[in-house]
Amino acid sequence: MAIRMVVIGAGDRGRTYASYAEAYPDELRIVGVAEPNEESRSYFAKRYALPEKFQWRSWEAAVAAMPETDVVAICTPDALHLEPALAFLDAGYHLLLEKPMARSWEACRQLAEKVRQTRRLVLVGHVLRYTNYFTHLKAVLDAGEIGDVVSIQHMEPVAYMHAAHSFCRGNWGNTVRSTPMILQKCCHDFDQFVWWLGRRCLRVSSFGGLTHFRPENRPAGAAARCLDCPKAIERACPFSARKIYLERTTYRYPFVDQSDSGMERLLKDSPYGRCVYACDNDAVDHQIVNLLFDGGVTVSHIMESYTYTGGRETKIFGTRGEIVGNGRTLRIYHFSDRTTTEWDSVLEAGLNGSGHGGGDFGIVRELIRQLEHGTEADHLAAFEMSLESHKIAFAAEKSRLAQGEVQVLEG
Ligand SMILES: NC(=O)c1ccc[n+]([C@@H]2O[C@H](COP(=O)([O-])OP(=O)(O)OC[C@H]3O[C@@H](n4cnc5c(N)ncnc54)[C@H](O)[C@@H]3O)[C@@H](O)[C@H]2O)c1
Repeated sequence: MAIRMVVIGAGDRGRTYASYAEAYPDELRIVGVAEPNEESRSYFAKRYALPEKFQWRSWEAAVAAMPETDVVAICTPDALHLEPALAFLDAGYHLLLEKPMARSWEACRQLAEKVRQTRRLVLVGHVLRYTNYFTHLKAVLDAGEIGDVVSIQHMEPVAYMHAAHSFCRGNWGNTVRSTPMILQKCCHDFDQFVWWLGRRCLRVSSFGGLTHFRPENRPAGAAARCLDCPKAIERACPFSARKIYLERTTYRYPFVDQSDSGMERLLKDSPYGRCVYACDNDAVDHQIVNLLFDGGVTVSHIMESYTYTGGRETKIFGTRGEIVGNGRTLRIYHFSDRTTTEWDSVLEAGLNGSGHGGGDFGIVRELIRQLEHGTEADHLAAFEMSLESHKIAFAAEKSRLAQGEVQVLEG
């Protein structure tokens, strides 16, 4: 019998998780949607043949209807995670909850209390845990191939177009409306460190800021919207919305209407058509975080917007070897016999086809597995690890705002 899922927020993430039901209809069935945007709701409802009574205009209406479902996927904007999560937990549902789970550490703790009390499964959207690539990396570490881990050097290249799209013009440009970039983007990475090491993070310090997407960097004569910009200025600009959305298609993925005419409309009317130097953004464009883990393991993490492509690059240094990963391939260097093994995630069977290196479908598969076979202890363990990553992210932001002051993490 397929697991039943109600989706709250039929935007990019809601549609992504729901599409698992199209690929694996025997495993997952979509039974309802809550979405205030008419176009997104009807697109979604049509795709999953949802009757009118299982379409709601808000999460409040959905929880009040007490739908017959096994799990609720909360895929609303960052500011709308905590309240629906608490309400659906009170109503007795299991959750697939998008990260960040909440917008402050206090709110995360409030949610954690509710999870421990209701003993429901709350799988937080840390999709990287379920990719072939990171699963293999974790297996190499657990097998002791490189001995004891001494330190980690990890980089998250954001990609200049992605930075302009999400963290300047888009949903996460303004941290008052959304969340700090180190939480939004890097709680994935902190989740990885906690998972790889199986240790607690004890201390954190961080520096970073917003260097480039500022009004003072706007070229003289540039218009407030790219479609109105003088041609010479627009052609020379790496961040031109015309280049990103009209001449390329990569960043059309979040929008329901991805046609050229849909993009023309988007650039005319929406925040995505704004000059990157004329937005209401305050998100950082670079940040570094140093972490000290239990047992003296150190991690240095860099998040950088001005890179050609995105992904993750990692070096892990152990007492018997070294792992070098570029997001696709892992090279494992063994000191004792000076041999090297190479492993390419793309050549492996699995869910590589879905977004985030297979993690988008991987987390839904894990959700189904946990609901079918997981114990309450397994459910709680998955949530507690995600909680730890949020704790690190909030401490990093606090440190950054205090010019790198070391934050000691509570137990
Ligand atoms: N796990 C990941 O890797 C990952 C990646 C990107 C985004 N996210 C997170 O997923 C969440 C959703 O991001 P997105 O890119 O899908 O955003 P989105 O804007 O595309 O989708 C959010 C949807 O929620 C809807 N919504 C707003 N208020 C609502 C309400 N009261 N009730 C029901 N629906 C409501 C919006 O209309 C919108 O359609 C964000 O919190 C984001 O940070 C996670």
